[in-house]
Amino acid sequence: MAILIERIRNDIEFINQFNATPEKGVTRLTFSDEYRGATAHVVEEMQKLNAQISYCRGGNVRARLIGTDDHGPAVMMGSHLDTVVNGGRYDGVVGVVAAMEAARSIVEDNIAHRLPIDVVVFAEEEGSRFNRGLLGSSVWTGKLNSSYLADIQDAANISYPEAMRQAGFELNDDALLEPSNLRAMLEVHIEQGLVLEKRGCRLGLVEAIAGIRHFDVTLKGRADHAGTTPMEDRADALQAAALIISAVEEIALQIGDNTVATVGRIASMPGQNNVVPGRVTFSLDIRNADQIILNTAVTTITNKIKTVCATRGLEYEITPLGSAEPVTLSVEIVDLLEAKARERNIESLRMVSGAGHDSALLADLTQTGMIFVPSQGGRSHCPEEFTSLEDIGLGCEMLLSAALELSA
Ligand code: GLV
Ligand code: MN
Ligand code: MN
Repeated sequence: MAILIERIRNDIEFINQFNATPEKGVTRLTFSDEYRGATAHVVEEMQKLNAQISYCRGGNVRARLIGTDDHGPAVMMGSHLDTVVNGGRYDGVVGVVAAMEAARSIVEDNIAHRLPIDVVVFAEEEGSRFNRGLLGSSVWTGKLNSSYLADIQDAANISYPEAMRQAGFELNDDALLEPSNLRAMLEVHIEQGLVLEKRGCRLGLVEAIAGIRHFDVTLKGRADHAGTTPMEDRADALQAAALIISAVEEIALQIGDNTVATVGRIASMPGQNNVVPGRVTFSLDIRNADQIILNTAVTTITNKIKTVCATRGLEYEITPLGSAEPVTLSVEIVDLLEAKARERNIESLRMVSGAGHDSALLADLTQTGMIFVPSQGGRSHCPEEFTSLEDIGLGCEMLLSAALELSA
């Protein structure tokens, strides 16, 4: 079984040419010109292997290698090609490229497999364009009805289906992913944290993925003259936001147990020096691998928003923007990967993913496994993101051997 590191390097280089911000990390928004270029590369490479290409529900792309039982459930491998704004070269790309290289190796070496093997590119994993992460996989798995997509717009008011059309993603397979059509889902991903590097370990086997709740919070106060409105007569939405945002950090720290909560985006209206801010919208991202702790964090932060607004005479709106429940991945696949690593004398580490992944949406449909490779310095969602080719190659080899076993 020949995994060729050179080909992996070339794919990563090639895909990352498609970048809207070449001097400032990688920006590749779903269905943008850059995204279309990157996805076309995957399609072209997979067509060389005679894969069947489908544009699937939710804007996801699937390239299928037919096995001897072409009606059997598929082993899916893949990840995403969209990025955060000014992000890195590896998040998502590694999982797609590893899947492509595994597929090439299967075809070139003429390795027999019974079940179909799919290379998939999930759309809008990051939520950077449409403000809702894990969107493609949520729709494909039926967790979000595809009729909602028409109401989802980007910052330029282009709807999701319109952006898909503009990118030339004409659906030719509108089917939902169903348990009966799936044998397994496998995703290689960079760890995006420090655990593997600190342990000097090259391979993480993911046992669970943290749950995520995303919200947009809007505080509605009153815009007034900054010179003439006494402090006690104001309904300043930005001052209320400041209190809430610092409480978000305190609450996450108090709850502990790896609770994380982030306000990553804020807009203050009308946004002028001499006007008391009348309206503020900010994002809220709350995560924990334990459902009960996650719920507690959400409730505590929501209560804080209510109290601050009541005290200051503001109205508020909390809009849920998508979520993923905490999930446990397949114990059988972790065991399988661990045994394969042991055979090769490679140390592996069972771990929990704090980052969200499309695999989390697949886990209740089919046996799902994730293979983590180390992130240098734990850096991710930034231009400094780096994982060595050797480690990506190892992830790819693990993926290939598991995919072959599961599709036999
Ligand atoms: C995706 O990268 C996420 O964890 O938000
Ligand atoms: Mn990411
Ligand atoms: Mn990712």
